[in-house]
Amino acid sequence: MIYEPDEESLKYAAEVIRTGGLVVFPTETVYGIGANALSSDAAEKIYKAKGRPSDNPLIITLPSVSDVEKYAYPPESYFRLAEKFLPGPLTCVIPKKSNIPDTVSAGLSTVAVRVPSNPIARRLCALSGVPVAAPSANLSGKPSVTSLKSAIEDMYGRVDVIIDGGESEIGLESTIVSLDGDKATILRPGGITVEMLREVLPGIEIGSSVKEEFDGIPSAPGMKYRHYAPDAPVYLLDGDDAAVYNWITEKAAELASQGRKAGVLCCDEDTPLLALLGSVSLGPRGDDGVQAHRLFECLRSFKDADVIYGRLPDDSGLGLAVLNRLLKAAGFQIIKL
Ligand code: TXA
Ligand code: MG
Repeated sequence: MIYEPDEESLKYAAEVIRTGGLVVFPTETVYGIGANALSSDAAEKIYKAKGRPSDNPLIITLPSVSDVEKYAYPPESYFRLAEKFLPGPLTCVIPKKSNIPDTVSAGLSTVAVRVPSNPIARRLCALSGVPVAAPSANLSGKPSVTSLKSAIEDMYGRVDVIIDGGESEIGLESTIVSLDGDKATILRPGGITVEMLREVLPGIEIGSSVKEEFDGIPSAPGMKYRHYAPDAPVYLLDGDDAAVYNWITEKAAELASQGRKAGVLCCDEDTPLLALLGSVSLGPRGDDGVQAHRLFECLRSFKDADVIYGRLPDDSGLGLAVLNRLLKAAGFQIIKL
């Protein structure tokens, strides 16, 4: 069930994928749960294992950019992005070919294509010889999986193979860009930042679902579901240091007097918050890379909290991706101080 990422194990895992089974494997972003994307039956198993709604399409993972045209019709802008950022944490939504079944694309005419840089993911996809449909390896609605421990927590017994890839390097899912002719839109921020994308496609837009609540028009079908959420409700505080410290300290004391527990997500500099029971640090305030890397494991660590409080991060660089995941985990519940 759990395998080291050696060549023999990867050959076995590739055989499992080819013959319709499920394999949890590491990527540079988060762990994925993979199946043969050419088989409706295999893709169906992913939805079942994750408890994922069937109208939320899957990403297909390929070993190299040169494979993309076998399954999709990439526009010229795809190759410009690919030259700079692939293999890497960038997924592009482009028109699909008919060999990708509706079960994978959830009936859409497009498919999300990803070429990861993680050597284990690439080797597994290459050995499989088929496109690998691979969403994040968490149970639907929960924070994504960035460690073997979390992969086991969510997927043990639901899949055929789990490959140990240690901690995920980036810790947040890939950036998703929709490419429609000359128009490019960021559907989900991630490892490749807006600033980086603008160097190649200056006109790229940030989709409304990145910072705003779903408004009824699903630019990306997954955006309408609650995501990345621990069991307890999450609230984000918007205010200066003193106001946030006072508010959370009072709230934590109030909850404690009722026999309930507050979970607090803060940074290394937030000394008054770190003194509270149930606080977890995302890392240094100025280090968005460390914050991205730790975010999902921090959210998963609040096992016995009744309510979780966090703070709105700065939205530059990787901060935008951290903000996006926190907003979704919180169901957009923001408390302005
Ligand atoms: O980093 C990643 O992208 C990870 C690793 C495992 O590769 N995968 C991942 O997959 O995050 P998933 O399924 O958890 O998130 C993919 C998102 C979903 O919100 C889905 O709705 C959206 O991509 N998506 C997939 N196909 C789409 C399409 N054709 N059009 C618009 N959105 C699409
Ligand atoms: Mg996911």
